[in-house]
Amino acid sequence: MYKTNVQEIYKLPTDKKERERLSVQHQIWNILFGGLNAPALHETINSRMAVRDGPPPAVLDVGCGSASWAIEMASVYLQAQILGVDLAIDPSLHYAAPNVQFKQLDITHGFPPTPGGYTIIHARVVTGHLKDPTAFVQAAFAELKPGGLLILADVFKPIWADKSIPVPLFPGVHDPENLPPGGSWWAGWIDFWHRACYVDYRTTESLINAHDGLSVVHQERYLVPMHPSNDTEEREGLGAVSNSITLGFCHAGIKPFVATGQFTRTQVEEWIRLIQREFETKPIYMAWDIACGVKSS
Ligand SMILES: C[S@@+](CC[C@H](N)C(=O)[O-])C[C@H]1O[C@@H](n2cnc3c(N)ncnc32)[C@H](O)[C@@H]1O
Repeated sequence: MYKTNVQEIYKLPTDKKERERLSVQHQIWNILFGGLNAPALHETINSRMAVRDGPPPAVLDVGCGSASWAIEMASVYLQAQILGVDLAIDPSLHYAAPNVQFKQLDITHGFPPTPGGYTIIHARVVTGHLKDPTAFVQAAFAELKPGGLLILADVFKPIWADKSIPVPLFPGVHDPENLPPGGSWWAGWIDFWHRACYVDYRTTESLINAHDGLSVVHQERYLVPMHPSNDTEEREGLGAVSNSITLGFCHAGIKPFVATGQFTRTQVEEWIRLIQREFETKPIYMAWDIACGVKSS
């Protein structure tokens, strides 16, 4: 048996408040996809979930968080067995649906086995948090059945409306009254987050592409506005949801940022206020990525 110290493995909280934030974050993917999964993957997923002889299709949701995706998958694919795993599991989830189960574990210590392998392994906003995302993809590959899908999704970097990359600004380094053009407090936050917490970050597409046994069957990058004023009619509501979950993410980041010893709590709180004002006044977006690989048969 291993002992898990969640704080050492994962920098964000795993409490009720964070699970609520994650269930709101789930809505962003729903708005982007116009449903539970990327439309370009519907046929690919449906063909694999069709019941044939043998055990039911097995789906593993790694780092399931609020479990919103796992529970919705269970309600759409009644013939499938869904397993959600996470460092922390809300006990009330165990009664969510007859074909969904949950298990508390650290995925870096091994995948829960399933007879014949998984039909789908899904990990959304998880690989960035892992010490070795390439090793995770290798382990996931071994647990997939031939023809099985590895679906990875993650949030990448900030982008201005003109598609340029913002200059990161840091409190204590930059003066709010005298800023370089194209500077962004939010870009600074993400830059520091990558240095402190997402040290081995790899994009979802590059992770799948790096594995010889996986072929990318779908890859897409969506730009998500950080404020309702930059919403489009096509995806109304996106800015409000992204603004709320991002500011929640910043508050959840206060502890790990202060723990680095590079900023005081007062500085980090002021930083969040600057970010909030930036979202209200400047057209900034985040890149949200999805990539799906199929295991060669
Ligand atoms: C940002 S949340 C994403 C949750 C969910 N996939 C979603 O899209 O809403 C990342 C989740 O991964 C879990 N996690 C991080 N490292 C993990 C590990 N080593 N093993 C299992 N779960 C992990 C965290 O506890 C957290 O719930």
